[in-house]
Amino acid sequence: MDKLQIHGGIALEGEVRISGAKNATLPILAACLLADGPVIVSNVPHLQDVTTMIELLGRMGVSVTVDERMRVEVDASTIREYFAPYELVKTMRASILVLGPLLARFGEADVSLPGGCAIGARPVNIHVAGLQAMGADIHIENGYIKARASRLKGARIVLETVTVTGTENLMMAAALAEGQTVLENAAREPEVVDLALFLNAMGARIRGAGGDKIVIDGVERLHGTAYEVLPDRIETGTYLVAAAITGGHIRVKNTRPEHLDAVTGKLQEAGATIATGENWIEVDMHRRRPRAVDIRTAPYPAFPTDMQAQFAALNTVASGVGTIIETVFENRFMHMLEMRRMGAEIRLEGNTAIIKGVERLTAAPVMATDLRASASLILAALVAEGRTEIERIYHIDRGYEAIEEKFQALGAKIRRTPG
Ligand code: EPU
Repeated sequence: MDKLQIHGGIALEGEVRISGAKNATLPILAACLLADGPVIVSNVPHLQDVTTMIELLGRMGVSVTVDERMRVEVDASTIREYFAPYELVKTMRASILVLGPLLARFGEADVSLPGGCAIGARPVNIHVAGLQAMGADIHIENGYIKARASRLKGARIVLETVTVTGTENLMMAAALAEGQTVLENAAREPEVVDLALFLNAMGARIRGAGGDKIVIDGVERLHGTAYEVLPDRIETGTYLVAAAITGGHIRVKNTRPEHLDAVTGKLQEAGATIATGENWIEVDMHRRRPRAVDIRTAPYPAFPTDMQAQFAALNTVASGVGTIIETVFENRFMHMLEMRRMGAEIRLEGNTAIIKGVERLTAAPVMATDLRASASLILAALVAEGRTEIERIYHIDRGYEAIEEKFQALGAKIRRTPG
């Protein structure tokens, strides 16, 4: 298996261009199942999870073509089966996003139940309950969610917990349901808004996305369209923290600063100067050591759980003590144990990590356990003394496009070694 080798100690400088958002691309590709004509999606990031979603659509008989610029054309008219097998769902939980569209458009879906996950239990009970409220007949058999419906009916659904993919699945299903659906306590993430904009471009009638109440008036059919995915705010945040942790100064291009307020606010608290334009963010840490920050993760617009590990890395070398409280997932601290092996001083108490910054981390062999944990280990390695080797980096390739190239362009000493 490939590894990443990183020599720490270089302050990052330069510019980096952000790719399309993974967590918007995945639901948008699933939503293509709803259209009765071809859809062209652009600004699609070249990532393992995107490849998995394309493979999943292909297995169902959907025609998918990808050009050299990662423009993806999806035509669901050739679909043969309404089935998401365990072997794909177990590698990517977001496969659950085909459940709503399949059921709404074809009245039938057999989707493997995702199993456990490195960051928490992550059940899909809210997705299932919402579809049942819309009239679907659903039962679990041999590890599969077996869902049937003639035509889904609009309903008022109060989501028990704020769930991103749950909101997306129900919004997609409701787009073709008969009558009006109201989703209360909906997720407000920019990726939910991007999906709503995409569905509306296909002829859906959705309003309120971005707020906690989304109203969807079902339509008879959705048509093909062309759509450009929004930039990835978590990739953006990861590069911003990478610059800050190394004392560097970078400009992040092709992004949406308004989606990163919680993150840039914390970077300012840490001592960084932030400047923004319409589609760029500049961070300057003036070669200084960051100050420790306190973080509490929660659904958007609060601080994102997908940026928690990166700020944990920042705190390990900051001046002072920073407390990190993870409220979204119950087991998202695996990176803390790896960072301890690099000399970090971290005390864990339930969902809280208390991090006392040290003067320097030292390189060590470490292991990636999930996507954002892997990113945080790269950040720690960028400031550690010596050469860090990160194993199991397939996690990184699920969510960060061309990560070594982008870091190399910012001056980092990072390379991939085949293992
Ligand atoms: N939950 C339930 N029941 C459900 C659904 C969710 O109890 O039916 C709970 C979860 O267990 C969790 C909380 O609700 O404790 C929130 O989870 P959510 O459903 O919002 O997470 P998700 O939709 O599975 C998406 C992103 C994650 C991101 C979370 C939170 C995609 C494809 N994935 O997951 O992204 O961490 O929202 O913002 O959009 C990543 O990119 O690294 C990643 C893990």
